[in-house]
Amino acid sequence: MSEGYPDIRLRRLRQSPQVRRMLDRPFPGPERFLWPVFVVPGSGVCEPIDAMPGQCRYSVDQLIEALKPVAAMGISGVLIFGLAEESAKDATGTAAFDPTGPVHAAVRAIRNAYPNLLVFTDVCVCAYTSHGHCGPLTDDGVVNNDASNAVLANVAVSHAEAGAHGVAPSAMMDGQVAAIRGALEAAGFMDTILMSYSTKFASAMYGPFRDAEKSAPQSGDRKGYQASYGDLATALRESDLDEAEGADILMVKPSLFYLDVLTRLREGTDLPIAAYNVSGEYAMLIATADRGWGDLYSMVRESITALDRAGADIIISYWANQYEKVAGVRC
Ligand code: PBG
Ligand code: ZN
Repeated sequence: MSEGYPDIRLRRLRQSPQVRRMLDRPFPGPERFLWPVFVVPGSGVCEPIDAMPGQCRYSVDQLIEALKPVAAMGISGVLIFGLAEESAKDATGTAAFDPTGPVHAAVRAIRNAYPNLLVFTDVCVCAYTSHGHCGPLTDDGVVNNDASNAVLANVAVSHAEAGAHGVAPSAMMDGQVAAIRGALEAAGFMDTILMSYSTKFASAMYGPFRDAEKSAPQSGDRKGYQASYGDLATALRESDLDEAEGADILMVKPSLFYLDVLTRLREGTDLPIAAYNVSGEYAMLIATADRGWGDLYSMVRESITALDRAGADIIISYWANQYEKVAGVRC
Protein backbone atom coordinates (compact mmCIF):
# COMPACT_ATOMS: atom_id res chain seq x y z
CA MET A 1 0.00 0.00 0.00
CA SER A 2 1.31 3.35 -1.00
CA GLU A 3 1.24 6.21 1.44
CA GLY A 4 0.73 8.82 -1.22
CA TYR A 5 1.31 10.09 -4.68
CA PRO A 6 1.26 8.73 -7.33
CA ASP A 7 -1.12 6.01 -6.12
CA ILE A 8 -3.19 8.56 -4.27
CA ARG A 9 -4.45 11.30 -6.55
CA LEU A 10 -7.13 13.33 -4.83
CA ARG A 11 -7.99 15.08 -8.06
CA ARG A 12 -9.79 11.85 -9.03
CA LEU A 13 -12.45 12.81 -6.49
CA ARG A 14 -13.17 16.21 -8.03
CA GLN A 15 -12.45 15.60 -11.69
CA SER A 16 -15.92 16.40 -13.06
CA PRO A 17 -19.18 18.07 -12.12
CA GLN A 18 -20.72 14.60 -11.83
CA VAL A 19 -18.17 13.35 -9.30
CA ARG A 20 -18.28 16.60 -7.34
CA ARG A 21 -22.06 16.52 -7.28
CA MET A 22 -21.97 12.98 -5.89
CA LEU A 23 -19.51 13.81 -3.12
CA ASP A 24 -20.36 17.37 -2.08
CA ARG A 25 -22.77 17.86 0.78
CA PRO A 26 -26.05 19.17 -0.61
CA PHE A 27 -26.62 22.90 -0.46
CA PRO A 28 -29.02 23.59 2.42
CA GLY A 29 -32.63 23.54 1.29
CA PRO A 30 -34.97 26.53 1.67
CA GLU A 31 -36.51 24.94 4.76
CA ARG A 32 -33.30 25.70 6.64
CA PHE A 33 -33.74 29.48 6.22
CA LEU A 34 -35.48 32.24 8.11
CA TRP A 35 -35.76 35.69 6.50
CA PRO A 36 -35.26 38.67 8.85
CA VAL A 37 -37.74 41.45 8.01
CA PHE A 38 -38.32 45.02 9.17
CA VAL A 39 -41.84 46.32 9.77
CA VAL A 40 -42.93 49.93 10.20
CA PRO A 41 -46.25 51.49 11.16
CA GLY A 42 -48.66 52.59 8.43
CA SER A 43 -49.58 51.12 5.08
CA GLY A 44 -48.24 51.21 1.54
CA VAL A 45 -44.65 51.51 2.79
CA CYS A 46 -41.83 49.70 1.03
CA GLU A 47 -38.77 51.77 1.79
CA PRO A 48 -35.46 50.39 0.47
CA ILE A 49 -32.71 50.23 3.10
CA ASP A 50 -29.63 52.06 1.75
CA ALA A 51 -27.06 49.91 3.50
CA MET A 52 -28.84 46.64 2.64
CA PRO A 53 -29.69 46.54 -1.07
CA GLY A 54 -32.49 44.05 -1.70
CA GLN A 55 -34.06 44.67 1.74
CA CYS A 56 -36.82 47.12 2.68
CA ARG A 57 -38.71 48.48 5.60
CA TYR A 58 -42.26 47.28 5.00
CA SER A 59 -45.62 48.21 6.38
CA VAL A 60 -47.62 45.09 7.15
CA ASP A 61 -49.62 45.10 3.89
CA GLN A 62 -46.45 45.40 1.79
CA LEU A 63 -44.69 42.72 3.80
CA ILE A 64 -47.52 40.35 2.99
CA GLU A 65 -46.92 41.08 -0.72
CA ALA A 66 -43.15 40.66 -0.40
CA LEU A 67 -43.63 37.29 1.28
CA LYS A 68 -45.42 35.76 -1.70
CA PRO A 69 -42.29 34.69 -3.62
CA VAL A 70 -40.46 33.86 -0.39
CA ALA A 71 -43.21 31.50 0.74
CA ALA A 72 -43.37 30.02 -2.77
CA MET A 73 -39.64 29.22 -2.61
CA GLY A 74 -40.22 27.17 0.52
CA ILE A 75 -38.37 29.38 3.03
CA SER A 76 -39.41 28.22 6.52
CA GLY A 77 -40.37 31.57 7.93
CA VAL A 78 -39.49 35.03 9.10
CA LEU A 79 -37.80 36.75 12.01
CA ILE A 80 -39.60 40.05 12.56
CA PHE A 81 -38.00 43.32 13.69
CA GLY A 82 -40.14 46.36 14.38
CA LEU A 83 -39.57 50.07 14.14
CA ALA A 84 -41.40 52.70 16.17
CA GLU A 85 -42.05 56.40 15.56
CA GLU A 86 -39.53 58.56 17.44
CA SER A 87 -42.47 59.94 19.45
CA ALA A 88 -43.36 56.44 20.68
CA LYS A 89 -39.91 55.81 22.19
CA ASP A 90 -39.38 56.12 25.95
CA ALA A 91 -36.74 55.22 28.54
CA THR A 92 -38.12 51.68 29.02
CA GLY A 93 -39.16 50.75 25.49
CA THR A 94 -42.81 50.17 26.41
CA ALA A 95 -43.88 50.47 22.75
CA ALA A 96 -42.22 47.08 22.23
CA PHE A 97 -45.10 45.34 23.98
CA ASP A 98 -47.93 47.47 22.63
CA PRO A 99 -50.24 44.91 20.97
CA THR A 100 -51.30 47.51 18.40
CA GLY A 101 -47.70 47.88 17.19
CA PRO A 102 -46.46 46.82 13.75
CA VAL A 103 -44.73 43.63 14.94
CA HIS A 104 -47.89 42.31 16.53
CA ALA A 105 -49.91 43.29 13.46
CA ALA A 106 -47.36 41.58 11.21
CA VAL A 107 -47.49 38.38 13.26
CA ARG A 108 -51.29 38.26 13.00
CA ALA A 109 -51.29 39.08 9.28
CA ILE A 110 -48.63 36.52 8.36
CA ARG A 111 -50.28 33.78 10.41
CA ASN A 112 -53.48 34.55 8.56
CA ALA A 113 -52.09 34.91 5.03
CA TYR A 114 -49.43 32.17 5.15
CA PRO A 115 -50.47 29.34 7.45
CA ASN A 116 -47.34 27.35 6.53
CA LEU A 117 -44.80 30.03 7.41
CA LEU A 118 -43.16 30.00 10.83
CA VAL A 119 -43.22 33.36 12.56
CA PHE A 120 -40.40 34.27 14.93
CA THR A 121 -40.03 37.68 16.54
CA ASP A 122 -36.96 39.51 17.76
CA VAL A 123 -37.38 40.31 21.45
CA CYS A 124 -35.46 43.44 22.37
CA VAL A 125 -36.18 47.08 23.08
CA CYS A 126 -33.32 48.99 21.41
CA ALA A 127 -35.62 50.13 18.59
CA TYR A 128 -38.09 51.41 21.18
CA THR A 129 -35.94 53.13 23.80
CA SER A 130 -35.14 56.84 23.55
CA HIS A 131 -31.48 56.07 24.39
CA GLY A 132 -31.22 53.13 21.97
CA HIS A 133 -29.95 50.58 24.49
CA CYS A 134 -31.39 47.08 24.82
CA GLY A 135 -33.05 47.71 28.18
CA PRO A 136 -33.84 50.44 30.70
CA LEU A 137 -30.84 52.18 32.30
CA THR A 138 -29.77 52.60 35.91
CA ASP A 139 -29.01 56.05 37.31
CA ASP A 140 -25.40 55.44 36.32
CA GLY A 141 -26.42 54.99 32.70
CA VAL A 142 -25.67 51.29 32.38
CA VAL A 143 -28.33 48.83 31.27
CA ASN A 144 -30.24 47.52 34.27
CA ASN A 145 -30.09 43.77 33.78
CA ASP A 146 -32.94 42.60 35.98
CA ALA A 147 -35.30 45.43 35.07
CA SER A 148 -34.59 44.62 31.42
CA ASN A 149 -35.56 41.00 31.96
CA ALA A 150 -38.99 42.02 33.20
CA VAL A 151 -39.51 44.18 30.12
CA LEU A 152 -38.26 41.46 27.74
CA ALA A 153 -40.63 38.95 29.35
CA ASN A 154 -43.54 41.33 28.68
CA VAL A 155 -42.45 41.74 25.07
CA ALA A 156 -42.15 37.99 24.55
CA VAL A 157 -45.59 37.25 26.04
CA SER A 158 -47.15 40.01 23.91
CA HIS A 159 -45.65 38.42 20.78
CA ALA A 160 -46.92 34.99 21.80
CA GLU A 161 -50.36 36.50 22.35
CA ALA A 162 -50.25 37.90 18.82
CA GLY A 163 -49.55 34.37 17.57
CA ALA A 164 -45.78 34.09 17.19
CA HIS A 165 -44.56 30.50 16.90
CA GLY A 166 -41.26 31.53 18.41
CA VAL A 167 -39.61 34.39 20.26
CA ALA A 168 -35.95 35.29 19.91
CA PRO A 169 -34.47 37.39 22.72
CA SER A 170 -31.44 39.36 21.51
CA ALA A 171 -30.66 41.72 24.40
CA MET A 172 -27.90 39.61 25.99
CA MET A 173 -29.14 40.16 29.55
CA ASP A 174 -28.15 37.55 32.14
CA GLY A 175 -31.16 35.41 32.95
CA GLN A 176 -33.31 36.64 30.06
CA VAL A 177 -34.06 33.12 28.83
CA ALA A 178 -35.24 31.94 32.26
CA ALA A 179 -37.32 35.09 32.72
CA ILE A 180 -39.00 34.70 29.32
CA ARG A 181 -39.52 30.95 29.68
CA GLY A 182 -41.13 31.50 33.08
CA ALA A 183 -43.38 34.27 31.81
CA LEU A 184 -44.49 32.22 28.79
CA GLU A 185 -45.32 29.25 31.02
CA ALA A 186 -47.21 31.45 33.45
CA ALA A 187 -49.23 32.90 30.57
CA GLY A 188 -50.04 29.45 29.22
CA PHE A 189 -47.74 29.55 26.18
CA MET A 190 -46.04 26.22 26.71
CA ASP A 191 -45.57 25.65 22.96
CA THR A 192 -43.84 28.91 22.11
CA ILE A 193 -40.37 28.17 20.78
CA LEU A 194 -37.60 30.11 22.51
CA MET A 195 -34.74 30.73 20.10
CA SER A 196 -32.10 32.50 22.13
CA TYR A 197 -29.49 34.76 20.60
CA SER A 198 -27.34 32.80 22.99
CA THR A 199 -23.86 33.78 21.81
CA LYS A 200 -24.24 37.26 20.39
CA PHE A 201 -21.07 39.25 20.09
CA ALA A 202 -20.51 42.99 20.40
CA SER A 203 -19.70 43.27 16.72
CA ALA A 204 -18.81 45.97 14.23
CA MET A 205 -20.82 43.99 11.65
CA TYR A 206 -24.24 45.28 12.73
CA GLY A 207 -23.86 48.72 11.11
CA PRO A 208 -26.29 48.27 8.20
CA PHE A 209 -28.91 46.80 10.55
CA ARG A 210 -28.68 49.73 12.92
CA ASP A 211 -29.20 51.98 9.92
CA ALA A 212 -32.23 49.88 8.93
CA GLU A 213 -33.63 49.88 12.46
CA LYS A 214 -32.49 53.36 13.45
CA SER A 215 -31.43 51.64 16.66
CA ALA A 216 -27.81 52.68 17.23
CA PRO A 217 -27.23 53.57 20.90
CA GLN A 218 -27.35 57.35 21.43
CA SER A 219 -24.24 57.11 23.56
CA GLY A 220 -21.78 54.39 24.48
CA ASP A 221 -21.84 50.92 22.98
CA ARG A 222 -23.15 47.45 23.76
CA LYS A 223 -19.87 45.93 24.93
CA GLY A 224 -21.07 45.75 28.55
CA TYR A 225 -23.77 43.22 27.63
CA GLN A 226 -22.97 41.63 24.26
CA ALA A 227 -20.22 38.98 24.28
CA SER A 228 -16.60 39.92 23.78
CA TYR A 229 -15.14 38.33 20.67
CA GLY A 230 -11.75 37.95 22.29
CA ASP A 231 -13.10 35.72 25.05
CA LEU A 232 -14.16 32.40 23.55
CA ALA A 233 -14.68 30.58 26.86
CA THR A 234 -17.23 33.08 28.16
CA ALA A 235 -18.91 33.21 24.75
CA LEU A 236 -19.45 29.44 24.92
CA ARG A 237 -20.72 29.67 28.50
CA GLU A 238 -23.36 32.13 27.28
CA SER A 239 -24.89 29.39 25.15
CA ASP A 240 -24.44 26.69 27.80
CA LEU A 241 -26.33 28.81 30.31
CA ASP A 242 -29.15 29.55 27.88
CA GLU A 243 -29.52 25.85 27.26
CA ALA A 244 -29.76 25.31 31.02
CA GLU A 245 -32.33 28.12 31.32
CA GLY A 246 -34.64 26.43 28.84
CA ALA A 247 -33.77 27.71 25.38
CA ASP A 248 -35.04 25.46 22.59
CA ILE A 249 -32.64 26.75 19.94
CA LEU A 250 -29.22 28.34 20.36
CA MET A 251 -27.67 30.94 18.07
CA VAL A 252 -24.32 32.33 17.04
CA LYS A 253 -24.27 35.89 15.81
CA PRO A 254 -22.51 37.13 13.70
CA SER A 255 -21.78 33.82 12.05
CA LEU A 256 -19.25 34.00 9.23
CA PHE A 257 -16.54 35.49 11.46
CA TYR A 258 -17.42 32.95 14.17
CA LEU A 259 -17.38 29.57 12.44
CA ASP A 260 -15.14 28.27 15.21
CA VAL A 261 -17.81 29.17 17.75
CA LEU A 262 -20.47 27.39 15.69
CA THR A 263 -18.32 24.29 15.49
CA ARG A 264 -17.51 24.31 19.18
CA LEU A 265 -21.18 24.69 20.08
CA ARG A 266 -22.12 21.95 17.63
CA GLU A 267 -19.77 19.59 19.44
CA GLY A 268 -21.10 20.60 22.84
CA THR A 269 -24.88 20.58 22.45
CA ASP A 270 -27.71 18.54 20.99
CA LEU A 271 -29.94 21.59 20.66
CA PRO A 272 -30.59 22.99 17.19
CA ILE A 273 -28.23 25.86 16.38
CA ALA A 274 -29.08 28.92 14.32
CA ALA A 275 -26.45 30.98 12.53
CA TYR A 276 -27.33 34.64 12.12
CA ASN A 277 -25.73 35.82 8.88
CA VAL A 278 -25.80 39.50 9.88
CA SER A 279 -26.27 42.73 7.98
CA GLY A 280 -22.56 43.57 7.67
CA GLU A 281 -21.85 40.11 6.27
CA TYR A 282 -24.62 40.68 3.73
CA ALA A 283 -23.49 44.18 2.79
CA MET A 284 -19.82 43.30 2.40
CA LEU A 285 -20.50 40.77 -0.34
CA ILE A 286 -22.76 43.22 -2.15
CA ALA A 287 -20.11 45.95 -1.89
CA THR A 288 -17.45 43.60 -3.26
CA ALA A 289 -19.64 42.53 -6.18
CA ASP A 290 -20.62 46.14 -6.91
CA ARG A 291 -16.97 46.97 -7.41
CA GLY A 292 -16.61 44.13 -9.85
CA TRP A 293 -14.39 42.20 -7.46
CA GLY A 294 -16.42 39.01 -7.25
CA ASP A 295 -19.53 37.26 -8.51
CA LEU A 296 -22.23 38.00 -5.94
CA TYR A 297 -24.18 34.77 -5.76
CA SER A 298 -21.08 32.59 -6.05
CA MET A 299 -19.71 34.36 -2.98
CA VAL A 300 -23.02 34.02 -1.20
CA ARG A 301 -23.34 30.31 -1.95
CA GLU A 302 -19.83 29.69 -0.67
CA SER A 303 -20.49 31.61 2.54
CA ILE A 304 -23.76 29.79 3.23
CA THR A 305 -22.04 26.46 2.61
CA ALA A 306 -19.51 27.45 5.28
CA LEU A 307 -22.30 28.02 7.82
CA ASP A 308 -23.83 24.64 7.03
CA ARG A 309 -20.46 22.88 7.24
CA ALA A 310 -19.63 24.53 10.55
CA GLY A 311 -22.76 23.08 12.11
CA ALA A 312 -25.67 25.47 11.66
CA ASP A 313 -29.11 23.88 11.47
CA ILE A 314 -31.02 27.09 10.86
CA ILE A 315 -29.66 29.92 8.72
CA ILE A 316 -31.07 33.36 9.45
CA SER A 317 -30.12 35.38 6.44
CA TYR A 318 -31.12 38.36 4.34
CA TRP A 319 -30.27 36.15 1.36
CA ALA A 320 -33.40 34.11 2.10
CA ASN A 321 -35.52 36.28 -0.19
CA GLN A 322 -32.99 35.55 -2.98
CA TYR A 323 -32.66 31.86 -2.15
CA GLU A 324 -33.23 30.57 -5.66
CA LYS A 325 -30.44 32.73 -7.08
CA VAL A 326 -28.04 31.47 -4.41
CA ALA A 327 -28.97 27.82 -4.72
CA GLY A 328 -28.95 28.09 -8.50
CA VAL A 329 -25.27 29.03 -8.84
CA ARG A 330 -23.55 26.52 -11.11
CA CYS A 331 -20.78 24.67 -9.34
C1 PBG B 1 -30.61 44.34 18.51
C2 PBG B 1 -30.20 43.52 17.34
C3 PBG B 1 -29.13 43.80 16.49
C4 PBG B 1 -29.15 42.82 15.49
C5 PBG B 1 -30.22 41.98 15.75
N1 PBG B 1 -30.87 42.42 16.92
C6 PBG B 1 -28.15 44.90 16.51
C7 PBG B 1 -27.41 45.19 17.73
O1 PBG B 1 -27.28 44.37 18.64
O2 PBG B 1 -26.92 46.31 17.78
C8 PBG B 1 -28.18 42.75 14.35
C9 PBG B 1 -28.65 42.11 13.11
C10 PBG B 1 -27.83 42.36 11.91
O3 PBG B 1 -26.80 43.07 11.92
O4 PBG B 1 -28.20 41.81 10.86
N2 PBG B 1 -30.90 43.67 19.67
ZN1 ZN C 1 -31.30 45.32 21.28
